[in-house]
Amino acid sequence: MSNSPTKAYLDEPLREDCPSPHFNEVLAVRMSRRQLMKGSMAAATATLFGTTLTACVSDSDNDTPAVETPAAPGFSEPKLGFQAVAVTRADTTTVPAGYTATPFLPLGTPICGTYPEYKPDGTNTGAEQEQQMGMCHDGMHFFPIGGSSTHGLLVMNHEYIVQPVLHANGATTVGGIRTVPDEVRKEIAAHGVAVVEIRSTAHGQWEIVRGAYNRRITGATPMAIRGPVRGHEKVRTKYSPDGTRTRGTLNNCAHGYTPWNTYLTCEENWAGYFVNKTGRPREHSRYGVATSSGRYRWETVAGDEYERFDVSVKAASASEDYRNEVNGFGWVVEIDPFDPDSTPIKRTALGRFAHEGCVYAPVVEGRPVVFYMGDDSQNEYIYKFVTRANYSAATANGSMLDDGTLYVARFDADGSGRWLALDFNNADFLAACLAKGVSFSDQGDVLLNTRLAAATVNATPMNRPEWGAVHPHTGEVYFTLTNNSSRTVADAANPRAPNPYGHIVRWRETGNDAAALSFEWDIFVLSGTLTDSGKLGDATQPLGEDAIHASPDGLWIDPNGILWIQTDMSGSQQGSGPFGENQMLAAEPATGEIRRFYVGPREQEVTGVITTPDGKTMFVNNQHPGDRSTPGNFTSNWPDRPQPYTTVDPSGPRPRCATVIITRNDGGVIGL
Ligand code: FEO
Ligand code: CA
Ligand code: CA
Repeated sequence: MSNSPTKAYLDEPLREDCPSPHFNEVLAVRMSRRQLMKGSMAAATATLFGTTLTACVSDSDNDTPAVETPAAPGFSEPKLGFQAVAVTRADTTTVPAGYTATPFLPLGTPICGTYPEYKPDGTNTGAEQEQQMGMCHDGMHFFPIGGSSTHGLLVMNHEYIVQPVLHANGATTVGGIRTVPDEVRKEIAAHGVAVVEIRSTAHGQWEIVRGAYNRRITGATPMAIRGPVRGHEKVRTKYSPDGTRTRGTLNNCAHGYTPWNTYLTCEENWAGYFVNKTGRPREHSRYGVATSSGRYRWETVAGDEYERFDVSVKAASASEDYRNEVNGFGWVVEIDPFDPDSTPIKRTALGRFAHEGCVYAPVVEGRPVVFYMGDDSQNEYIYKFVTRANYSAATANGSMLDDGTLYVARFDADGSGRWLALDFNNADFLAACLAKGVSFSDQGDVLLNTRLAAATVNATPMNRPEWGAVHPHTGEVYFTLTNNSSRTVADAANPRAPNPYGHIVRWRETGNDAAALSFEWDIFVLSGTLTDSGKLGDATQPLGEDAIHASPDGLWIDPNGILWIQTDMSGSQQGSGPFGENQMLAAEPATGEIRRFYVGPREQEVTGVITTPDGKTMFVNNQHPGDRSTPGNFTSNWPDRPQPYTTVDPSGPRPRCATVIITRNDGGVIGL
């Protein structure tokens, strides 16, 4: 989402005041102590590991030894094999020579039920939208059927809505009241997740299979609450007096999937959909629940399914009103795409925040499963969840997500890091709570207030953590930190203050054990311009024309080891900056070589990428093309207007969020 609410909620004065050395100083020390590390990483990539700067927050365990990270047998580092594309503001898709991009599954495409046709004038009803592709395609995964690269389930998030594009004449609001209830039904239906069975009919050509798997999950779909928060007094509502159920998932940004073949959708900027006019408890205020009206004023429509978005206290008890409705949001939601009748499950053990993706480390039989997650808000944190149960391919299932330990990351200035438990039964956690005068009633309360818990243990506030990616062969973890206009003091892991362009941080767990409590980190790239950016291994060397980019967001490492980086620029950075429209770049993890692979149409965000198992078909999502449109004045005509054209027609086809299928014309593997 281009306009992620990004406030530093400073009502909890718990962050350590830690003066940090200037980033150049950090780099100078690190680069003077180059340390060759064994494994997949070239010497050039090791420059930032293993330094002696004194950590601001020190403890006796920080002298983490260099980690051996052996690559998997048979793995060789990838070499990019395409010519970079130039920045552009064309209202089209741009791919390297020898590649083809084809739009697929745009907003409104009928996928289930009675398959109601898309109406290009924006007049589809709410009931029709519930059977069509939603808006603002985001995180996405391809679940092959029988291991196939030509047949599978494409599952994706629909993050939010652009009202002037979704409706024929935008949203109807009179005196602050939404006066057309079906518009609101349609908006709620345009959110959520789509499960679509697809099949390839020819190279680069795919079609929808009208089968039983196809499904829309929306902002109104019944869901179960599992994990420590299930039944908690703070999730009891009129809809679910016992606190075991809720309705809908909202603002689903990035995603994940599990080793047991289910989909994870992550709730990001859900708080602003709700309003509380009677005084916000901490589990509302710390996340930014509104105080005057919800983002789309859904709460102004009569009916229980809409009035629930007003979380003010209205009755004598929590089971008689919706004061706790918003506490049912902010979670990772597990969906079984292969069971169309399954109830999505909110997995509360993974914490409550502005979730942006949930990616697991390579699994090892007999060891816990580890998931990494970011909280995309200014000065928030990076987390990992370690299951209590050990992995067994024969028996693993979603119950593993209900019992485990949630940790938050502290990045120390010497290039080491620590995972700090947010666990009501952990002595260090309780000591930190005592020292800070913070109290929780139980683990459910800790999880409902995850941000407060993380601040209590002095985790490192980061520059808006977006997607994470785990290298499938080395276990290295990469995270985008998209930007941060509010940072006033740089630290080693967030070396710009403010940070207009973002960067990517990465780490290796000690002993290459994903469940380890310590790690070593460095900075993979400082995003930015030809004069203000930095390359891996020598941050004083800026990126070139083929690699400049800003606001990195989407991230994925494909099975061949290519790191894919997607951008979410907004405002003037997008409209008049040197970067053109939002784009996707490919990078070699070992060398830091970065090349622009794809540029999307006007005013969209490139977000979500996956390939088929053979690596020969890539799916890329493009959300909110033409997002500065007003009713009847469109700022993109993609994808419905025939190409080529050079000027957008304001009265031409309305823009539609869509997936793009990318293939190599010679049938080869993407990127190599
Ligand atoms: Fe929805 Fe943080 O991007
Ligand atoms: Ca973003
Ligand atoms: Ca994002």
